[in-house]
Amino acid sequence: MDTRSPGRPSLPLLVLGAGRDLHTERGVECPGDLPAPSDPDLVARATAAKAALGDQVFVLGHHYQRDEVIAFADVTGDSFKLAQQAAARPEAPWIVFCGVHFMAESADILTSPDQTVILPDLAAGCSMADMATAAQVEDCWDDLIDAGVAEATIPVSYMNSSAAIKAFTGRHGGTICTSSNARTALEWAFAQTGGVEGSGKILFLPDQHLGRNTAVRELGLSLDDCVVYDPHRPMGGLTRDQLKNARMILWRGHCSVHGRFTTEAVQAARRDIPGVKVIVHPECRYEVCELADHIGSTEQIIKTVAAAPAGTSWVVGTELNLVKRLATMFPEQSISFLEKNVCYCSTMNRIDLPHLVWALESLVEGRVVNPIHVDPEVAHWARVALDQMLALPGPTHKD
Ligand code: 13P
Ligand code: SF4
Repeated sequence: MDTRSPGRPSLPLLVLGAGRDLHTERGVECPGDLPAPSDPDLVARATAAKAALGDQVFVLGHHYQRDEVIAFADVTGDSFKLAQQAAARPEAPWIVFCGVHFMAESADILTSPDQTVILPDLAAGCSMADMATAAQVEDCWDDLIDAGVAEATIPVSYMNSSAAIKAFTGRHGGTICTSSNARTALEWAFAQTGGVEGSGKILFLPDQHLGRNTAVRELGLSLDDCVVYDPHRPMGGLTRDQLKNARMILWRGHCSVHGRFTTEAVQAARRDIPGVKVIVHPECRYEVCELADHIGSTEQIIKTVAAAPAGTSWVVGTELNLVKRLATMFPEQSISFLEKNVCYCSTMNRIDLPHLVWALESLVEGRVVNPIHVDPEVAHWARVALDQMLALPGPTHKD
């Protein structure tokens, strides 16, 4: 397929997930026939393939997945719940992960060597996770050594990071966290270096907003305790003194979806909808979280809305597939999306019914497509950091 416009070179377009373009994030290829999105039998084909596979396959679905995919998930959840669930299914040889690449990698690390994790479209990455490469993080650690602060620093990496960064975290005595247990993870990390009141530091990767929101709003640190390390600048753009004085060294990364919610949208909702409750994901900017009534992971957002009385009005600042599903799940409440100018998470949306059918039917035919295999050395250290997270007390968040 070609698009041509006057004065511009033609641009080859690949049908979503089909063909191959090695200049894109992971080189997308679907060997075999990807069903057409217009195929009227897709639901019947997915149902039949899943029935044929029975207990051999376990389908995990993140809350941001499309409805057409969620319909075939054995379990839905936030990234913490899905990691737990992946680890708790040793009997299923195939785990089909309807989510994004870092989640499938974590599932591969947490499952047994006899199990295979499948990501129906390899282009389902995460722009935030891509904002920190392992080489950049190693350079950052060298900067912390040069500044004389590495010994007092514990890395805490958000689940939304590559397996290599999780391995870095494990090698340096840190932990992984998700949006549902970030507070507990930070408390644990500070406890390794003298407590929240002490002088130890946390290197928080790669989402500056989750790190700042948790440290300031939940642990009582100040905004001045936080510095932002920019991997594209020498020494992260920081002086030695800034690194020495900081308690939270936040990586300069963010979510391209949640970073777009604004304080103006919260103010407009409060002006236009009497009694409205604002609930947002902690990947939103600090200023936005400050104005919200509730903050939580995707699972916590669902639970909070579920517990509200009929007639409650909500505006929700998280990915649109989930917000639309909330409106369907709770018709007795009034649920709307926080921001007109924010769209779906494009990578979460790459997993569609044609890709799921393709992955399931391939398994029925004895072919494993798009397996996710993490290098064993990387997996070992990443597992150390993931196990540390799973050993923390249960998820917490402050409403
Ligand atoms: P949750 O862990 O809250 O599901 O968030 C994952 C994510 O990618 C949010 O953008
Ligand atoms: Fe990554 Fe943001 Fe999409 Fe979550 S919503 S998967 S953080 S890009």
